[in-house]
Amino acid sequence: MEGVTVVDHPLVRHKLTLMRDRTRSTKGFRQLLNEIGMLLCYEVTRDLPTELIEVQTPIATMRAPVLAGKKLVFAPILRAGAGFLDAMLDLVPSARVAHIGLYRDPETLQAVEYYFKAPADVAERLVIVIDPMLATANSAIAAIDLLKQRGARDLRFVCLLAAPEGIHRLQAAHPEVRIWTAAIDEGLNEHSYIVPGLGDAGDRMYGTR
Ligand code: URA
Repeated sequence: MEGVTVVDHPLVRHKLTLMRDRTRSTKGFRQLLNEIGMLLCYEVTRDLPTELIEVQTPIATMRAPVLAGKKLVFAPILRAGAGFLDAMLDLVPSARVAHIGLYRDPETLQAVEYYFKAPADVAERLVIVIDPMLATANSAIAAIDLLKQRGARDLRFVCLLAAPEGIHRLQAAHPEVRIWTAAIDEGLNEHSYIVPGLGDAGDRMYGTR
């Protein structure tokens, strides 16, 4: 699918299957989310620019690559996106973080903002929006709208699971935002849950219901 990278590495596929299992414990679910988060982070940062610096090894001096330019921003959509954040920060510890709090209005199903805090210079950085489930895409679209209102121009979206409906809606609203996901499932049910999916990602990672 154009604009979508499915990270279907055997480790990711294996771990995702374990996460789908309804009997997986909260602890196990969180750990697997963390592990897949790192693997997805590895892929979404694959083309980051590097520059050469001089470094002295115990043996010789050499010019070696380090990440170039401004530090990137991870933008988790609360609350489930926060479950992905630690994994990403483990791999890119100097990244900045933009927290985006959205809840779903039970009547309209639209995303409503309740918290937003981003680095002041978000316009000059690559912003990676993270949310485990791309279902209706209402939250993803709203989060990217908010980031663009603050000037963000270079955005990517990372999720664990995507529904085709969510991908189409996100791409219609923000066609330039590329998507990384571990898998694309069949679709949405009448409650806007991804099928077969893994249930409510927030509830499963935090042990709520
Ligand atoms: N959010 C979830 O946590 N799960 C879904 O299946 C859809 C949206």
